[in-house]
Amino acid sequence: MSDVERLSQMIQAARRIVVFTGAGISTESGIPDFRSPGGIWSRMQPIYFQEFLSDVEKRREAWERAFSGRAGWTGRSPNAGHFAVARLVGAGKASSVITQNVDNLHQDSGVPAEKVIELHGNASYAACLACGLRHELAELKVRFEAGGELPSCQQCGGVVKTATISFGQPMPEGPMARAQEETLACDLFLVLGSSLVVYPAASFPPMAKHRGARLAIVNREPTEQDAIADLVVHGEIGPVMSAAVPAN
Ligand code: APR
Repeated sequence: MSDVERLSQMIQAARRIVVFTGAGISTESGIPDFRSPGGIWSRMQPIYFQEFLSDVEKRREAWERAFSGRAGWTGRSPNAGHFAVARLVGAGKASSVITQNVDNLHQDSGVPAEKVIELHGNASYAACLACGLRHELAELKVRFEAGGELPSCQQCGGVVKTATISFGQPMPEGPMARAQEETLACDLFLVLGSSLVVYPAASFPPMAKHRGARLAIVNREPTEQDAIADLVVHGEIGPVMSAAVPAN
């Protein structure tokens, strides 16, 4: 039996799947991942949360990256991997999608927003760090490009940042709690496209396994957690998931 057939059987046998995604599911949409050769961290350094807060030039660089589309990629289209995940959710096989991605592509592929748990936030809008007011990027971009104005809150004057979670920024409590709840309730935890090196996000696969769920990983390269997986498929997510979860 092929790995894809094994994966398909595991999916069919599962009662409640949690899908856990990383940047690898979005590379086939034209968004580079972080740690493959040529990935984002080979081209630029992360801007840590403290730097964003305390260093105006770093904050300007962060906004230039966001507005230029060099980071926090948005505006791309979902690919076959996203649509296969959406089929699992639509069929009631997957109860949620826990994602490290900020590109909104699970929502764009038809997964209801309430079933997408974003551990690292979302780059398609901004929010005030003090009062939480949502700000649309288009308006902020016009002022930034016209006069170099760094976004500040229309309501309270606080610092505004894209709604992503940067290194050093506290993880979002609500999504972390929901992710744990979902992880502990599933009988199949399916990882798609993550190197599984960034914590606490990478703590969920072993948590599921420890709780007795089966763990399957689909990833081009070996990951840090292949050794504990029940099934590892080294391949491209789009083709693998299209075969494992065929559109009827
Ligand atoms: N099919 C299968 N696997 C793929 C594909 C693909 N089309 N494209 C890339 N991959 C694999 C790569 O081999 C790599 O192991 O996806 C993995 C992506 O790993 P990372 O680039 O480390 O991305 P991710 O695991 O999501 O990073 C986690 O790190 O920098 C932070 O906040 C950022 O959310 C991100 C977190």
